[in-house]
Amino acid sequence: MSPPTHGRRRGGRASPAPPATIGEAWIAGREHLEALGVPEAAITAEVLLRHALNLTRTQLYVAWGRSVGPDAWARYEALLDERATGRPLAYIVGRREFMGLGFLVDERVLIPRPETEILVETVLEALRDTPGPLVADVGTGSGAIAISVAVARPDARVLATDLAPEALEVARANAARHGVAERVRFLEGDLLEPLVAAGARPDLIACNPPYVAPEDAAGLPREIRDFEPRIAVVAPGFGESVHARLIAGAPAVLPPGGWLVMEAAAGQGPRVIELFHRSGAFDAPLVRRDGLGWDRVVAARVPTAPGRRRE
Ligand SMILES: C[S@@+](CC[C@H](N)C(=O)[O-])C[C@H]1O[C@@H](n2cnc3c(N)ncnc32)[C@H](O)[C@@H]1O
Repeated sequence: MSPPTHGRRRGGRASPAPPATIGEAWIAGREHLEALGVPEAAITAEVLLRHALNLTRTQLYVAWGRSVGPDAWARYEALLDERATGRPLAYIVGRREFMGLGFLVDERVLIPRPETEILVETVLEALRDTPGPLVADVGTGSGAIAISVAVARPDARVLATDLAPEALEVARANAARHGVAERVRFLEGDLLEPLVAAGARPDLIACNPPYVAPEDAAGLPREIRDFEPRIAVVAPGFGESVHARLIAGAPAVLPPGGWLVMEAAAGQGPRVIELFHRSGAFDAPLVRRDGLGWDRVVAARVPTAPGRRRE
């Protein structure tokens, strides 16, 4: 990077000196990112500085007035340059917080989003009165949903599926990291097929599907379009096709009273609700909104007894 007043420039031309202190390095990095229009410049500069120095937040504040040193400054500069290319912060530092847990992430998986925590909370609420539940997380990616449920419910067993074998590698590493590998089984395959092949009858199927229509993909922010796996973001056919396939297939997999809980894109919720109603195989869906008021999570149960739908 070439921050306004400090540091070495790319291409080898050296400016007088790196900023003297860690605090000054943070200011230089923040100003540089702001000038480039990188969102959340202040927190991004802080996270990258902590990563370059290998310090916790508290340690960084304690060290604020200390000398930054040329090696640490060079590492920080390289990280700022990487962020300026559009590479998401979570991939640069290799980590993202979700449900209070740290998940390893890289370009093999979608970066877990805060709104997906609403889905996990809905899952936990739906399973409150089910002892020892079997839960399926379809399209597990980093394992964020599967592992958060396994951590929150030590009596649960989880089946985590994905079409992408490289995503399952990341999810396995996260399950080991959080000490739940023995209760989370990973299955590769298309949507519900691995569950059918395993003869599984989960009490609940959760899914945060890819839900961007191919025609909208070009308009995505470059952080998503150029860095996150396309298979995790773009749904073949029209936007809700994965929702539709799950609504059609889940009743054959779920036991009576079993749940299907899915996330929807902003604005997609009403169409997902309509798909549930049209299927005729579920009780009336529940909807959970996000902080902006979008219908974000739609959940519905197959009736507890055949032919008995609750509206
Ligand atoms: C939106 S990402 C969700 C990842 C993770 N569950 C989360 O919420 O952070 C969708 C995931 O579904 C997977 N996927 C896409 N199409 C699939 C399919 N037909 N069958 C199974 N998994 C699929 C992708 O590889 C990706 O990991």
